[in-house]
Amino acid sequence: MTEWVWLNGTVTPLSDAKVSIEDRGYQFADGVYEVIRIYNGKSFTLKEHLDRLYRSAKDIQISLSIDQPALTRELNNLIAKAALKDAMVYLQATRGTCPRNHLYPETACKPTILFYVRQLPPPPVIGQIDGVKLITLPDERWKRCWIKSIALLPNVLAKNAAVSTGADEAVFVDDNGTITECSVSNFYAIIKGALVTHPVGPKVLPGITRLVVLDCAGQLGIPVQERAMTEPEAASADEIFITSTTREIGWVSHWNGKQTASAPGLLTDRLHQAFRKRVTQETGYEFAAPRTRRAIAAPT
Ligand code: PDD
Repeated sequence: MTEWVWLNGTVTPLSDAKVSIEDRGYQFADGVYEVIRIYNGKSFTLKEHLDRLYRSAKDIQISLSIDQPALTRELNNLIAKAALKDAMVYLQATRGTCPRNHLYPETACKPTILFYVRQLPPPPVIGQIDGVKLITLPDERWKRCWIKSIALLPNVLAKNAAVSTGADEAVFVDDNGTITECSVSNFYAIIKGALVTHPVGPKVLPGITRLVVLDCAGQLGIPVQERAMTEPEAASADEIFITSTTREIGWVSHWNGKQTASAPGLLTDRLHQAFRKRVTQETGYEFAAPRTRRAIAAPT
């Protein structure tokens, strides 16, 4: 039996349908979905499902390229073509395909919309339904930040919210008022000569750049404190910086729109130079000589 899929307006056998590996659903889980039950070959609560789909899409700033009446017609056509008494529709809409970047382009990305119909067993007779066996687990959706998961929708939304206000990066504050990490980078503050950063684990990704930076700090004799810090403590730190594989070390100049520094701090510069020394040792890369007064004065 052929399963058919509607993909951006074209109906093909499911096995022939192709979506780019740079689709943001695949790389960021940047999308929304619905599952709709078909009884007797007809959809049940289709309007309610589509209302929720359009609401979900709107709330993550995805503008679906087909309106609800047209999508309803297309869905009904595919449901009729499938001609299945007991089935479900899986429907997914992602932000679309564009070069990987947490920051999504305002217009270049056209949503990828698809749906297909899949056969289900007929509903069981009430009175003959087996009981459900439950176990309890802590609700940790999503408190496993140590896993470098592709489920990045909250990070994507935070990064875009930051950029839309003229900032570069968003730093997360948890329910306890503690600074954890940023949307695409780890976070550090220099407080009274010590390098302070939140411990890795449920709330913080064990960044590889972080690993190297903490090691460099040890070599430079900079004390490291892996501990939580409150927002006021972090915002008023002597130096603040962030790290990631693509950025290396980024010194922080502004906090919620207010300038906190006009140049990278001394320890930030020393750490960045030590970091680059590691890069050169491992790869042979030759960096241009540092230009700032502080950087030249800093011991390596
Ligand atoms: N992101 N924290 C988060 C949430 C990140 O997404 C990243 C990196 C880091 C820093 O990790 P590392 O030093 O291993 O790059 C911390 C990458 C760069 C990205 O998603 O593009």
